[in-house]
Amino acid sequence: MGLIRWIAPMALVAGLAGVHTIAFAADAAKGKIAFEKNGCWQCHGTVGQGANTGPKLAPDPKPLSFIQVFIRNSNGPMPPYMQAMLSDADLADIHAYLESVPKSPDYKSIPLLNQ
Ligand code: HEC
Repeated sequence: MGLIRWIAPMALVAGLAGVHTIAFAADAAKGKIAFEKNGCWQCHGTVGQGANTGPKLAPDPKPLSFIQVFIRNSNGPMPPYMQAMLSDADLADIHAYLESVPKSPDYKSIPLLNQ
């Protein structure tokens, strides 16, 4: 009985640790490649800044859960990307890449604009 009381919380901790490992495994460098390979850049710009047809995705991307639901179910001007075309792992990498896109600098830090 005592042992069972321990096993359940330990399994929970191990499970949570596993989830974190997956989240942390998202790789921005691989995401950049997937963003290019899957043509996202053609509509959203090379750093997700927004281009002619696609809205801005970065900096400050929406949460991965939003992006996942959106791209699997899009039935508007953006084509849906199914799991077979773009895996959840690749999508997590793309999200990590979008998160790595730096914000524009504060204009106060640009000497030319502060004379
Ligand atoms: C053919 C052009 C095209 C391609 C390719 C494309 N998108 Fe889009 N995307 C759009 C357009 C247009 C919208 C706006 C659609 C709408 O509002 O229904 C959009 C919307 C989105 C949104 C929702 C943005 C928001 O803030 O609501 C996300 C996230 C997104 N795209 C991610 C991606 C990713 C990731 C890829 C590559 C796997 C990709 N898109 C490829 C055109 C494209």
